[in-house]
Amino acid sequence: MTVHSFQEHFDAKIDNEVMIEPRDWMPDDYRKTLIRQISQHAHSEIVGMLPEGNWITRAPSLRRKAVLLAKVQDEGGHGLYLYSAAETLGITRDEMYDQLHTGKAKYSSIFNYPTLTWADIGAIGWLVDGAAIMNQVPLCRTSYGPYARAMVRVCKEESFHQRQGFEIMMTLANGTDVQKKMAQDALNRWWWPSIMMFGPNDADSPHTAQSMRWRIKRFTNDELRQKFIDVTVEQARLIGLTVPDPDLKWNEERGHYDFGPINWDEFWNVVKGNGPCNKERLDARKKAWEDGAWVRDAALAHSEKRKARKENKEVKEVKAA
Ligand code: 3HC
Repeated sequence: MTVHSFQEHFDAKIDNEVMIEPRDWMPDDYRKTLIRQISQHAHSEIVGMLPEGNWITRAPSLRRKAVLLAKVQDEGGHGLYLYSAAETLGITRDEMYDQLHTGKAKYSSIFNYPTLTWADIGAIGWLVDGAAIMNQVPLCRTSYGPYARAMVRVCKEESFHQRQGFEIMMTLANGTDVQKKMAQDALNRWWWPSIMMFGPNDADSPHTAQSMRWRIKRFTNDELRQKFIDVTVEQARLIGLTVPDPDLKWNEERGHYDFGPINWDEFWNVVKGNGPCNKERLDARKKAWEDGAWVRDAALAHSEKRKARKENKEVKEVKAA
């Protein structure tokens, strides 16, 4: 089979909605795009544990603490599914971690903002996990099999994450004046960074058009952002909170909310590493990597010992036979 016919075969599978699997032939650029997106998605899950982990010891009740603990543990699991999905494309776990620690790889901009009050934990669950669901449900139908299958499990858990966040915001919004003010303050600070999560406008996105052709993406950045805004504005109204966008207005003709300009300078500044918490987040990840070296060494030593024992046993069995 020539590369030409491999390409034709690949294109036909994409056009006919046949999943691409690890052993299938795929264009190098398709593989590279998937490694980039899946590994950065995994990094986002792991780094995303940090802002929320900050509040586990300070949750206002045992119930809130247990729910937050479960959520943060879920995010760790999501990271592991996604690192495993990326490994099926030929990159190692160590290479991915190195790319994160050296700044070569990105993670979601949203996790570079501080969690100042308990209401931030509600805002993250409601807005950040809400945005993640909007983006991840279509990824359950992405063209690469291992990624799509990882997303099915992730999305089930994201729904619980979004619900618990919205419930925190609803409780605060219906609480004392101070609590309602805290919820509104959190919405004010997390609204715009949450809609930036969907990435640059389609016109400024170097990857979206090709990712749509390869059915890695099922919707563009702007389409998902608009869906998120349309749904979330109604949720805010339901609990009596005000979205901090004076230009927000329902447009009957479009059937969507019109919204104000996004501060793309802020977005790219955070993506480039100059956000409020970028250094703190990366330092925490690098420290965890260094502190965990002994565990990796012990596991490696143990597996080598087991391998040597197995080989010795096989040699004895051959001699005895
Ligand atoms: N933060 C950081 N970088 C971002 C970004 C963001 N919010 N949005 C876009 N970028 C980067 C892209 O990675 C790309 O840079 P690169 O070429 O160095 O990778 C550049 O900006 C151009 O953006 P594009 O839109 O052209 O890039 P993509 O086609 O990859 O689209 C994406 C960006 C929409 C984030 C896409 O990669 C995607 O859907 N990824 C999977 C979902 C994901 O990663 N979500 C992150 C949050 S995970 C999360 O919230 C966990 C939850 O449990 C809380």
